Amino acid sequence: WGTLGHTTVALIAQSLVSNKTASFAKSLLNDTSPLYLFNIATWADSYRYTAEGAFSSPLHYIDAFDDPPTSCNVDYKRDCPEEGCIVSAIANYTTRIAAANVSRAEQEKALKWVVHFVGDIHQPLHVENLAVGGNGINVTFGGVVKNLHSVWDSSIAEKLVGGYTVDYARNWSTALVGEIEGGKYANVSRFWAEGMDVTDPVASAMVWARDSNAKVCTTVLPDGQAGVEGKELSGAYYENAAPVVEAQVAKAGFRLAKWLDRIVQSAGKGY
Ligand code: ADE
Ligand code: ZN
Ligand code: ZN
Repeated sequence: WGTLGHTTVALIAQSLVSNKTASFAKSLLNDTSPLYLFNIATWADSYRYTAEGAFSSPLHYIDAFDDPPTSCNVDYKRDCPEEGCIVSAIANYTTRIAAANVSRAEQEKALKWVVHFVGDIHQPLHVENLAVGGNGINVTFGGVVKNLHSVWDSSIAEKLVGGYTVDYARNWSTALVGEIEGGKYANVSRFWAEGMDVTDPVASAMVWARDSNAKVCTTVLPDGQAGVEGKELSGAYYENAAPVVEAQVAKAGFRLAKWLDRIVQSAGKGY
């Protein structure tokens, strides 16, 4: 996701975490402000472009070698290479956040990574290999030349809410928390926690990855690459995609909150 997606996921999680998790995260991040997760949500995207952080670029996605729109699937052994992927990264950094043998500085980085990667794994094109996750598919959006990946990272969400600054993220997160707690997501949100087991973080992240990847066949590329190549996507395509972007952002925030709660809950219990 772009800035709007990541910061909205962080703000939703901030609203839903337990008091204990909030205290733990504020302390680790040295930030007691009301924007403590918002403030670190896009750190991983800046870090990946530094010399020190270059190794982390492949950790933002998993290249599912499936065949959309005919078949969508993700396979950990097949798709997560030796250098790592978003699933192994979530697993690895999850175990480091509250680990006794990990330095405080490294625990802090691990938390920043988990906040970011739980966001990214909900962007369907971060769980798809085709045309480098859609980066190689040229489209237009509102008459502006874009690639399909950036349309899904940013354009759809920004058109839906009007912008990407903190106020837009705050309003969107407030609306989505309302939908989770008593609106259109109230009945489905309990299913969003299914398969979540902090003692098996690979399996847990694979549930999220499969959920995301399935949207590639249904919504992102229902007619394959030819169905979108060179097309204008701000009309009918947008109308169909926007509810999926919104649900994926809501789901990511909900799952991130639950995941952080379980990490903090299990801390010191030697998982
Ligand atoms: N680079 C290679 N595959 C990618 C993907 N699925 N998403 C983003 N960047 C990528
Ligand atoms: Zn992206
Ligand atoms: Zn990212």
